[in-house]
Amino acid sequence: MSVPERKQGEDGYLAWLPYRRQETKEGLERCKAYRQIVVAAAAEDGGAVIQSAAAELARGLESLSGLSAAVVNEGEVPESGAYIQLALFSSPAAGMDRLFPAAVRTEIGPEGFTMQTEADTGRIVIAAAAPAGLLYGAFHLLRLFAAGQSVDGLNIQENPVNPLRMINHWDNMDGSIERGYAGKSIFFENNRFKADKQRIRDYARLLASVGINAVSINNVNVHKQETLLITEEFLPDVAEVAAIFREYAVKLFLSVNYAAPVEMGELPTADPLDPAVQAWWQRRTQDVYAAIPDFGGYVVKADSENRPGPFTYGRDHADGANMLAEGLEPYGGIVIWRCFVYNCKQDWRDRKTDRARAAYDHFKPLDGRFKDNVILQVKNGPIDFQVREPISPLLGAMPSTHQVLELQITQEYTGQQRHLCYLVPQWREILDFDTHLKGNGSTVKRIASGELHGSRLAGIAAVSNIGDDANWTGHRLAQANLYGYGRLTWNPELTSSAIAEEWIRLTFGNGSEKLIRTVQQMLLDSWGIYESYTAPLGVGFMVNPDHHYGPNVEGYEYSMWGTYHFADWQGIGVDRTKATGTGYTGQYAGPNFERYESLETCPDELLLFFHHVPYTHKLHSGKTVIQHIYDTHFDGAEQAERLAAQWEALAGSMDEGLHRQVAERLAEQAEHAKEWRDRINTYFYRRCGIADEQGRTIY
Ligand code: GCU
Repeated sequence: MSVPERKQGEDGYLAWLPYRRQETKEGLERCKAYRQIVVAAAAEDGGAVIQSAAAELARGLESLSGLSAAVVNEGEVPESGAYIQLALFSSPAAGMDRLFPAAVRTEIGPEGFTMQTEADTGRIVIAAAAPAGLLYGAFHLLRLFAAGQSVDGLNIQENPVNPLRMINHWDNMDGSIERGYAGKSIFFENNRFKADKQRIRDYARLLASVGINAVSINNVNVHKQETLLITEEFLPDVAEVAAIFREYAVKLFLSVNYAAPVEMGELPTADPLDPAVQAWWQRRTQDVYAAIPDFGGYVVKADSENRPGPFTYGRDHADGANMLAEGLEPYGGIVIWRCFVYNCKQDWRDRKTDRARAAYDHFKPLDGRFKDNVILQVKNGPIDFQVREPISPLLGAMPSTHQVLELQITQEYTGQQRHLCYLVPQWREILDFDTHLKGNGSTVKRIASGELHGSRLAGIAAVSNIGDDANWTGHRLAQANLYGYGRLTWNPELTSSAIAEEWIRLTFGNGSEKLIRTVQQMLLDSWGIYESYTAPLGVGFMVNPDHHYGPNVEGYEYSMWGTYHFADWQGIGVDRTKATGTGYTGQYAGPNFERYESLETCPDELLLFFHHVPYTHKLHSGKTVIQHIYDTHFDGAEQAERLAAQWEALAGSMDEGLHRQVAERLAEQAEHAKEWRDRINTYFYRRCGIADEQGRTIY
């Protein structure tokens, strides 16, 4: 039976899963042939996940082919051999031992899958040790169909590289989202959970489609109302949401308030060594698990940016984290303790005090003191998700402690989803960075995956970029960041360009090669373009305080002590060397310490992060610092205009509404990039009085 072509998600709601009708005859025939999905797994446990996988295949193939698709049980195996079979290794489906001998099965981890096309019949079997693998396999196969690829002779084995692949929401119960740029929360409104949970279900599906397996739903800054999420008042709602995510193999976590017992008026103290406090958390945690038996655990921001923590009681982070971990341990839960800890009121005028040092200084001495169900979550850089930062030296520096890498998908400092900034290239650089902690090749990706130190718990977490805007991310092209985050976290070897192409094909279809190549190039160029017209050479910030949007060279919210970049009439930058500066470089292992410590070897793009230099200092590029600032800002603003023009040339090759929406954002970006250019160039011209070599007008 033919099904009408679904409106293929032009408002963006279907994101990268519109499953567009196949453009070519061949592609269409292929999808038509595989419209029977046979579930050969009678797993009591995880049946819902397998159902999600089967339903997704049916939905996808129906939409791709234009004909109805069906899910049938083993025993109703269709006559024609070309069908898709979902089978756990333990299932008695025909040919399992032949297709997946022991040698293959042992290669497949708990979340992995394997897939084969049987040569004689054309049957495609997706097999896995556990239901989640079948779900990931189903999405993988659908990606192939949607990209118009052949499915003959498939022989695929996939395992996620990172055990924890998490999204952190910074959603508040009043419906607002801290650093949210795409509308309001999909979880909360008016200090309650939203009654309609459909959107949460659709979101869970999106997350599963790129392999995400964990989500925390509330802000790390836990205010009064969210403190109550672990109480009987809200646990039934939390359980309902957890059940939705469970169908897509996503585990639910909550951010908790360290001082909850005090905030809730139940105890006079939150001292982690006080038995009454320990008993309080154990009781609460017991309640949480009574409601949600597979609850993931707690995310905690403590003793930072005015959040409470163990310091109040003269205790340290290990005392605090271990106390919570004890309560979670009997249930297999974990504590994700954030290392974004610094004193936001510190006075840095002595040029020795340095926010960048804080995480390492606080946590490194605690290595080995954390319980086995504690993970420390470390931001990629030592400051705060700037467009360019060095890698946090804390990553990998605690061999006896579990760590996860924290990234930010929401574009707080990278254009707030009004500017185009595809972040996958930045994340690739982070993951590929060699820390040299255990010799050459000690890359961040090996630390994140847990391999370098043989950690039991490891992975990557990132701050979400979605809200209740129709298209989830505000800027339609910002969807590529969520997609890319998931794909890269599954497999950090995927290239930025391959991920971009996948996303474009899934989102826009395969119909126009020009569209695919243009959008791919725009995405790949965008991070560099954004960097070129904003804060130069790794110096950071230069944004308006509080909301962090738009240029403000001295606009750091904690700027009561003057500028953080120390720009004066002669020079700019922060001396973080061991020899004469804050000593921050000393937190890096051998070769990285030397590279950053020396002006000669410090890479240009991070120069001002590590060194204070005169404006006339010559970069490796051969330009002076000041000329570099002028050139990149003129060039960046031009490139931003070029992005808008490139998009303009795609008019007519996609739905008009979609084209217009992105065109409007790109026009705003181009205008705003000029403002950035002028503000930054003027500021430095006035500071140093050195003219632009090219004699361009600086306003
Ligand atoms: C940044 C951000 C805050 C956030 C904090 C964090 O400072 O601006 O909004 O709370 O990071 O990661 O906790």
